[in-house]
Amino acid sequence: MRIVIINGPNLNLIGTRSPEIYGSTSLKELEDMCRSWASDLGATVETYQSNHEGDLIDRLHAARDADGVVINPGAFTHYSYAIRDAIEAIGIPTVEVHISNVRDREPWRQISVVSDVCVTTIFGRGITGYRDAIRHLVARAAWPVETITYGPDPDHVGDLRIPHGAGPHPVAVLLHGGFWRNTIARDLLDAAAVDLTERGWATWNVEFARVGGGGGWMATTADVATAIRSLSSFAEGHELDLERVIAVGHGSGGQLALQAVVGSNEPAISAVVALAPIGDLEAAHRAGIGGDAVTAFARRSPEQSPERYAAASPIRNLPIGVPLLVVHGDEDDRVPAAISRSFAGRAADEGDTVVYHELEGVGHNDLIDPATPAWDKVVEEIDRLR
Ligand code: DQA
Repeated sequence: MRIVIINGPNLNLIGTRSPEIYGSTSLKELEDMCRSWASDLGATVETYQSNHEGDLIDRLHAARDADGVVINPGAFTHYSYAIRDAIEAIGIPTVEVHISNVRDREPWRQISVVSDVCVTTIFGRGITGYRDAIRHLVARAAWPVETITYGPDPDHVGDLRIPHGAGPHPVAVLLHGGFWRNTIARDLLDAAAVDLTERGWATWNVEFARVGGGGGWMATTADVATAIRSLSSFAEGHELDLERVIAVGHGSGGQLALQAVVGSNEPAISAVVALAPIGDLEAAHRAGIGGDAVTAFARRSPEQSPERYAAASPIRNLPIGVPLLVVHGDEDDRVPAAISRSFAGRAADEGDTVVYHELEGVGHNDLIDPATPAWDKVVEEIDRLR
């Protein structure tokens, strides 16, 4: 797989240009890192940078025979319809990347005229956004994906992947983590989605409003419920078995998966797989996980609104009422395993059927990375829920 990485104006200066915003990595270092990230995934990259609009357009045209493009158009993002048209014209899957959180900066930076012709936009993740863009392109090439809209907002979309063979297929609804913040999106679960689809699960990897983009406990929870309900509208055409729908959530997505059972009905969720979940919002708040992530999501502290936490925290809504698989790594430095240990214990006490695994030497994202032994354990258990 051949990927072309294109950087626009002023990105030749990263490393020294506003390092508090763009970091201290130089363009040369970034391009070398892209080469190494791609080669780990069996892909190759070509890199290009220019400060000139016409040259960027020419390079896009020359990328017509590549398998994917990663582009950071710099300030051209915000007004260059010519670059937008070039991306559309070449028809190659293109990922838009921004190092900074453009949605949290000046209003003019929040506008992108290229987004609508890109397969996804990654922003606010620093230079690891380029790594994630490469990963996304590799995952898109690995298995056909249909992105389906389930509501009016740009975040009301999900990626549907259908396994080989005859249906009806069991369905795994995937709910990504990232502390409910809008800089992290469903591409985090691309590789897991591809792997589960290869194993015979139809996967519905959904997006939803997040903090910084209109999300918060109510809007986010409502989006997840709508995304799950929307399965009914395309189940028939894709041979989905709505009697066998499981919710798989990671980190903050674990909270959403557990709460999805509490709040939704059609189609019913038959089991929840909670990977390093935030199963207890108050404990997570006390532990200060993800900085102020919990208060930002709940928009109140537990002291300000105990009722909100009672409504939104899975541990306060036990029993969940469906079989639960909870897996946590003991080396998770983002969500402490202690939260899952007490969540699983309490859920069992309250009458839930719970399988709990605390995996030794395993970190937070190992649980969603098909290259790890931890993932082998996760899928072995998921397959029992089929
Ligand atoms: C940028 C954001 C743009 O607004 C800015 O003009 C850039 C870099 C980013 O990577 O964050 O040059 O695209």
